[in-house]
Amino acid sequence: MKTKYYKIQDINSSEAQAIITETALALRTGELVAFPTETVYGLGANGFEAAAVAKIFATKGRPGDNPLILHIAKQSMLAEIVQGVNVRAELLMEAFWPGPLTIVLPKSAAVPSVTSGGLATVAVRWPASLIAQALILASGVPIAAPSANTSGRPSPTSAAAVLEDLDGKIAYVIDGGDCAVGLESTVVDCTGSIPIVLRPGSVTQEMIEAVLGEASLQSFDLENSVDVPRAPGMKYRHYAPRSPLVLVDVNDENQWLELQRQLNDTSKSIGFIGSKESCDKLPENIFCFVLAKKQEIDRAAANLFKAIRKMDELNIELIFAETWPDVGIGTALMNRLRKAAGNSNIL
Ligand code: TXA
Ligand code: MG
Repeated sequence: MKTKYYKIQDINSSEAQAIITETALALRTGELVAFPTETVYGLGANGFEAAAVAKIFATKGRPGDNPLILHIAKQSMLAEIVQGVNVRAELLMEAFWPGPLTIVLPKSAAVPSVTSGGLATVAVRWPASLIAQALILASGVPIAAPSANTSGRPSPTSAAAVLEDLDGKIAYVIDGGDCAVGLESTVVDCTGSIPIVLRPGSVTQEMIEAVLGEASLQSFDLENSVDVPRAPGMKYRHYAPRSPLVLVDVNDENQWLELQRQLNDTSKSIGFIGSKESCDKLPENIFCFVLAKKQEIDRAAANLFKAIRKMDELNIELIFAETWPDVGIGTALMNRLRKAAGNSNIL
């Protein structure tokens, strides 16, 4: 199949309206459309149509037990897909929608089980991206969309990254520029009496607690848990470059020295993903991807997946990545970096 590429500069232009009309019709007729959101690009299908949703799994190579997020853009869509919204979920929606927060609630019978990965619950998000909203409204149905990457690769934060993985496999990609957040949404399970953060994102634990009150939240560390996976997607290897990625705390003198030693020692091509300050101190033969200045952690988060994809593109054989403070969006950034590093790769 030939993938049609459309770029939207101004959502209010007549060109944009025509693109939205055409791609929304494609969604209604069971095609896949990749579209921008403020977090990462999504691979959309009609969330009510099992056959269309099944295409998402086949195209990404995604395990069938990994449920999808339904994207909505008006209140009436929510009522169609969930069974009741409790007070905690309502407060979170008021505070953070539209935006990068996904809320898990009991699903209604209208949601096919392929969409929810066989679970009795469904994840719902109202994205802030105006392109995403226009597409959802024009299609008239909730749009099921995982990140628009091949399973196991980093989520795409640009249309070019979508095409890298899915060109020729999907009907359309809408280019809305680079994603502002660059990490996937925060996922909160609101089905129990105490909400649980299943995946950290730019809506932080502190922000959620400010809305719900202290001690109102559990954090669920899936990597270190033997419990039944609650966010099935978190158990799979994600965000990973093809080559090993090793985390380095550059503030720890021993680690910094060990890094220098390994840089001198190896015959492999080496990459480094980190702050401007650290990159400035490294030798020229290392391929450095500057995420941001140390103080600009939001920007670092927004650039991470691009950096990992770049390392793959250049066939870098060994990657070192600087650690960032584990607070605010740093928690989400470090969560993705630890997953990219896998189990053992800490200097
Ligand atoms: O920012 C985002 O969330 C992006 C954009 C496109 O919206 N989407 C995204 O989707 O990252 P995906 O499929 O790559 O990640 C969804 C995560 C997975 O870890 C999945 O297991 C979890 O949400 N999830 C989905 N439905 C769930 C449910 N009913 N219960 C628990 N976890 C669920
Ligand atoms: Mg994903």
